[in-house]
Amino acid sequence: MQTDVCIVGSGIAGLCAALHARAAGLGVILVTKVNIDDGSTRWAQGGIAAVLDPADTPEAHLADTLTAGVGLCDEAAVRVLVTEGPPRVRELMTLGAEFDRNPDGSLALTREGGHHADRIIHAGGDATGVEVQRALHAAVRRDAGLRIVEHALVLDLLTGADGRAAGVTLHVLGEGSTDGVGAVVARAVVLATGGMGQVYSATTNPSVSTGDGVALGLRAGAVVTDVEFVQFHPTALFLGADALSGQQPLVSEAMRGEGAVLVNAAGVAFMRGVHELADLAPRDVVAKAITRVMLDQHVDHVFLDARHLGAATLERRFPSILARCRAAGIDPVHEPIPVAPAAHYASGGLRTDLDGQTSVPGLYACGEVSCTGVHGANRLASNSLLEGLVFAGRIGADLAGSLPPRADPVADDAGAGLLDPGVRTDLADAMSVGAGVLRSSDSLDATLAVLDRLGARSSTDPGPLTWEATNLHTVATALVTAAHRREETRGCHWREDFAAAGEAWRGHLLASIDENGLLEQEFQPLPAVVPA
Ligand code: SIN
Repeated sequence: MQTDVCIVGSGIAGLCAALHARAAGLGVILVTKVNIDDGSTRWAQGGIAAVLDPADTPEAHLADTLTAGVGLCDEAAVRVLVTEGPPRVRELMTLGAEFDRNPDGSLALTREGGHHADRIIHAGGDATGVEVQRALHAAVRRDAGLRIVEHALVLDLLTGADGRAAGVTLHVLGEGSTDGVGAVVARAVVLATGGMGQVYSATTNPSVSTGDGVALGLRAGAVVTDVEFVQFHPTALFLGADALSGQQPLVSEAMRGEGAVLVNAAGVAFMRGVHELADLAPRDVVAKAITRVMLDQHVDHVFLDARHLGAATLERRFPSILARCRAAGIDPVHEPIPVAPAAHYASGGLRTDLDGQTSVPGLYACGEVSCTGVHGANRLASNSLLEGLVFAGRIGADLAGSLPPRADPVADDAGAGLLDPGVRTDLADAMSVGAGVLRSSDSLDATLAVLDRLGARSSTDPGPLTWEATNLHTVATALVTAAHRREETRGCHWREDFAAAGEAWRGHLLASIDENGLLEQEFQPLPAVVPA
C-alpha cells in the first residue's frame, strides 16, 4: 500500500494524528495491531488534565508537572503541553466527546495526585478513555478517505537510500492469502503504538502494550531516552498473588481525589506523615510509600478505604470500578479495596523534538511511545491523554509544512534475531522481581542475566507472537541497562543502593542500537541550576 503518512496505533495519539494529517490534506493509512479500540486509551479512568477553570492557570499546571518530573522535564515541552492543552481539549469536545458536567452545566473538574488544583475532566464517572476512544473512532470513521487496517502488527521501519523513513513492514493477520507480511510505503511514519507495560507480569496495560514502537525505533537507529522511568500506579486492584499477571484492573487515583484514603491492614492511614499532599502526593511518592508498608509488614497489598464517600457518590463517580470490584466479590461501599502497585506508564520512549520528530528523519512518535520531555522522571496524573492530544496536533502541523516525495525503500532484513514466544512469561516474571518498583545493582544484574539467557531462545517462525516476544526482550534489555546505569533514586526510579537523587545524575540517558546490533548508552547532563 502507498500513502503520504502511515500512522501506527489507534489510541488517542494515533487517531488524533490521523485526523490532523487528513485536515492538512494528506493521504493517511492507519494501521493497528488488533482492533481499533484495543489500545490503552479506552482503559483510562481518571481523565484529562487541562486548565479549564478560570481560577486555575497554565503556570500552576506547569509547576505541578515540573515538580512531579523531579528535575528532568523539558520545561519548553511542558509549556507547550499546558498552553496548547485547553484548546485541544475543546477541539475534542467539538468532535463529539462528552465530559461529565455539574448541575449548572459547567465541566466537572476533579483532582489527582500531584495537582494543586481541580483540573481533571472525566467522562462516564470513571470511563474517560471509553468516551474519548468512542468519539475519536467515530470521527475517523466519518472520513471515508482515511484507510484503516486492523490486525496488522508493525514489524520494521523501511528507509530510503538517504536514511529517511519511507514506510513500515507489517504482518497482517487475515484469512488465507491475505495473511502474511506486507508493507505501507509512505512519505512519513508516525508511531503511536503506546507503552510497554507487558514487560512486567503485573501491569495495568492491555496485552497489546508490548513496546513495539520503541523496539522498532531502536532497530531503525532512533534514539530512546529515559526508559528506566517506568511509572507504577499505586492502586491496581489486588485479587490475590495468583492473579498477579496480565492486565490488572485499575482503581483510579480520582478516587483519592474524591477523598478515599490508603490504609494498612490494621486500618491505619499512612500517607499523612509522608507528604504534604498525603494520599494525593505524586504517584511515585505514593507507590513507594505503599511498597514500604508492604515490605515492613510482610504483606502483598494495602487497602483503599472509600466507604465514607457513600454509596451515591461511589455509584455516580466510579461505576466501572465498583462493577469490577463487585465482580471480584469486593463491595467498596462496605469494605476497603485491596490494592497494590502495578506497572502503568513508560515515562521515557523515543526521543522527539517539540514537533514529534524522532532522530530518524521522517519518523515521528506520539503518545506513550514517545519521550517529548513532558514527563521527566515521573508523569503527573492525567497528563498522558493530554500529551497525545497536543503533540498529535503539532505533528499534523509539521507534516503539513513539507514532505519530500515518496522514496523507494531499500531492502530490509526483517526477521533477523527473532525470539521464541515462550520467553514472554519468564521475561515478565524476571522484570517484576528485579526491575520493578524497587531496584538494586544486584537485582538488575540478576535480571540482565535472565534476559541474556532468554535472548538465546531464537525462533524461525516469523509470526506476530514471535515479534512481540522479540520486542519485549529489546525494550526490557534497554530498560534494565538504563536502570543499572542510573545510580540514584529519582521519580519513579527507586534504587535501594542509591537512596538519593544525585545532582550529577540530573540528566538524560540516551540509548540506541549501533550498526552491529549493540545497545549503546550516553548520559547527557542538564545544565546546573543556578540559585536565584
Ligand atoms: C488513574 O485514573 O488513576 C490513571 C490516570 C493516569 O494514569 O493519568
